[in-house]
Amino acid sequence: MIKQDTDSPILEIKQLSISFFTRLNEIPAVMDFSCTVQPGEAMGLVGESGCGKSTVALGVMQDLGVNGRVVGGTIKFKGQDLGLMSPEDLREIRGSEIAMIYQEPMASLNPAMRIGQQLMEVPMIHEGINKEDAYARALEVVTDVKLPDPERILKSFPHHLSGGQQQRACDCHGTYV
Ligand SMILES: Nc1ncnc2c1ncn2[C@@H]1O[C@H](COP(=O)(O)OP(=O)(O)O)[C@@H](O)[C@H]1O
Ligand SMILES: [Mg+2]
Repeated sequence: MIKQDTDSPILEIKQLSISFFTRLNEIPAVMDFSCTVQPGEAMGLVGESGCGKSTVALGVMQDLGVNGRVVGGTIKFKGQDLGLMSPEDLREIRGSEIAMIYQEPMASLNPAMRIGQQLMEVPMIHEGINKEDAYARALEVVTDVKLPDPERILKSFPHHLSGGQQQRACDCHGTYV
């Protein structure tokens, strides 16, 4: 856990530029974007489709895929430059302090993994809890979001669930990730 002094921003983005690279060209997805978010503050990004909102969020997650790259500026989380962090530190922070709840439920669920396994692995990795406790926790969150027959849901693969059920399973995932 990174220590936080109370008046410094939780998130500080300065002159951020992000591009996606294709075989032939560079697609500038975000250009010169800056913002500051203080602890307890919420910020919304508004703009037309394709203007780069999701790319900013993915940049904060440091999860731009194989062809995306921060080409300018910095993203600081609690004063630390995310671009300079090791993959291990990033993984730690992503699991416990920064989360992204995706618009498309299928984009955050692994289609090849049972729902239960996906919900269990996060606290197992991040909190080191054992399989039994992780199962109990997964059952609890699935019950909390009022999915029917929680045991069956945990055994299901994402494609067995309806869109709304997938979305709720993601919300469970979102409480951890
Ligand atoms: N993986 C990618 N490869 C190439 N271009 C991408 C990729 N992801 C997003 N883009 C492009 O980056 C721009 C910003 O997209 P996005 O951040 O998804 O916009 P928004 O979330 O505001 O609708 C768009 O032009 C989009 O086509
Ligand atoms: Mg978007």
